[in-house]
Amino acid sequence: MLNRRFITFEGGEGSGKSTQIKILKNKLSKRHKVIITREPGGTKEAELIRNLLVKGRSNKWSGTTEALLNLTARKDHVDKVILPNLKDGKWVLCDRFSDSTIAYQVYGRNVDKEIIKNLNKSLINNLKPKITFLFDLDPKIGLGRSRKRSNNELRYENMSLSYHKKIRNAYLDIARKNKKRIKIIDASLNKDSISEIIWSFIQKELT
Ligand code: TMP
Repeated sequence: MLNRRFITFEGGEGSGKSTQIKILKNKLSKRHKVIITREPGGTKEAELIRNLLVKGRSNKWSGTTEALLNLTARKDHVDKVILPNLKDGKWVLCDRFSDSTIAYQVYGRNVDKEIIKNLNKSLINNLKPKITFLFDLDPKIGLGRSRKRSNNELRYENMSLSYHKKIRNAYLDIARKNKKRIKIIDASLNKDSISEIIWSFIQKELT
């Protein structure tokens, strides 16, 4: 199974995904070849698209154009980075993937789910992660953390709290519908507890 070393990390802004991806990479790297990547982004070209998405006015894209930009970036990323590395036997740890599009654009901005499903099928052959860790956190706390970051990628952070609450509920609903694949992490726990939960889960499930 090509996706058996493909793990994604999902959740709202400031939920601590990036920190935990690095910790997991360090642990796995002792025995395996591992890469970290992210969406939107992960290739030179997809990072250019990322810039269009994460900077500037919150209302500059419609939900559908936003979804299509993310899918364009994803197609490039899957073809150039994710699939070649999985075929090479490497572990691919990805900060966000298709669940983000379902949460942020389908649930969050009412984009037609069928369009996204069909495009996923035809563009990336329905590639799904083996395991997804969903970092669940009160968006008030998460936004507080991520607004403090010193970069100008604040387009999503500038969206309303009610939008971010909708995203949290969307993720929980997606998790309920994908119980086998998605493991919910209480992102309000401390860093060490979270990394232990993730590590013991990975060992149990995959090794
Ligand atoms: P992040 O990589 O810093 O978490 O930020 C990327 C932002 O892009 C985040 O707010 C979620 C959003 N996003 C979507 O809206 N749809 C998508 O398909 C992806 C991958 C991300």
